[in-house]
Amino acid sequence: MPPVEVGRSTRVLVTGASRGIGEVVAGAFARRGCTLGLVARSEDRLREVGAELPGDGHVTLPADVRDRGSIAAAVESFGAIDVAVANAGRADYAPVREMDLDTVEEMTRLNWLGTVYTVKAVLPGMLERRRGHLVLVSSVAALRSFPSGAVYGATKAAQRAFGEALWHELGGTGVSLTLVYPGEVRSSIHEGKDDLPEWRQPSEDAEPEPLAEQIVEAVQADASAVYYPKAVRAVRVAHGISPRLTDRILRRMRGRSAAPRG
Ligand SMILES: NC(=O)c1ccc[n+]([C@@H]2O[C@H](COP(=O)([O-])OP(=O)(O)OC[C@H]3O[C@@H](n4cnc5c(N)ncnc54)[C@H](OP(=O)(O)O)[C@@H]3O)[C@@H](O)[C@H]2O)c1
Repeated sequence: MPPVEVGRSTRVLVTGASRGIGEVVAGAFARRGCTLGLVARSEDRLREVGAELPGDGHVTLPADVRDRGSIAAAVESFGAIDVAVANAGRADYAPVREMDLDTVEEMTRLNWLGTVYTVKAVLPGMLERRRGHLVLVSSVAALRSFPSGAVYGATKAAQRAFGEALWHELGGTGVSLTLVYPGEVRSSIHEGKDDLPEWRQPSEDAEPEPLAEQIVEAVQADASAVYYPKAVRAVRVAHGISPRLTDRILRRMRGRSAAPRG
């Protein structure tokens, strides 16, 4: 089955499109003439993003992906979807002994269940039309989890396991899937946070634009994964071969807080 063509008639839904990576991804698809369905909670900001995008016919879909009914209604109101980017997410950091259960549940509901609710809402239509592409925005944290990022890493690893199995399930259906593993990327995900772990160095953040381009190209090429920046793929390979060697490398690159033990 040929991959989904990305062009004038392509309808693309992006969650978390009001800022950060989602907003830039929406721009990358709009520049190729696609019609965007923009999902997030901030309706006014979504309208601004929609107005700034090239092309017309884009739809603002205010919704909360933590609420299965809310995202299902947004998907239904947008109609036929060719590409769906499950991107909405948050990152909170603290050692497990200090993280409160409300924050654990919030990250789980948004990053993990929000992804499942979005996929479950768009998949039936795609399977019926025997055409579609799912993009799940996970993280390098799914490939190697970091101290103080145990819960965040777990939610991102859940997306990875879900996506890897679903990729197989979709064989021969005309629908396909790409898992995206960003490293540290400039966005507003840590805005207002002053308690970031030492190893998280915003000054090292990569620009989101090349990531957005790679996501569009992955859909066009039906690639099963995107690693951005390139070093993220090396983390996957190294951690798969020798977690202790990876620890030593990360300690050298980001200091003891990235791998305090071993
Ligand atoms: N930035 C990085 O370094 C990095 C690295 C690896 C992976 N990622 C992943 O990339 C994805 C996007 O993150 P980002 O860095 O772009 O963060 P961001 O700048 O904070 O943007 C998050 C987006 O998600 C939306 N959102 C939050 N809660 C929502 C909800 N309940 N329902 C619907 N939309 C919601 C926000 O809009 P509203 O507040 O308007 O709802 C916003 O548009 C996340 O899944 C994150 O885990 C980011």
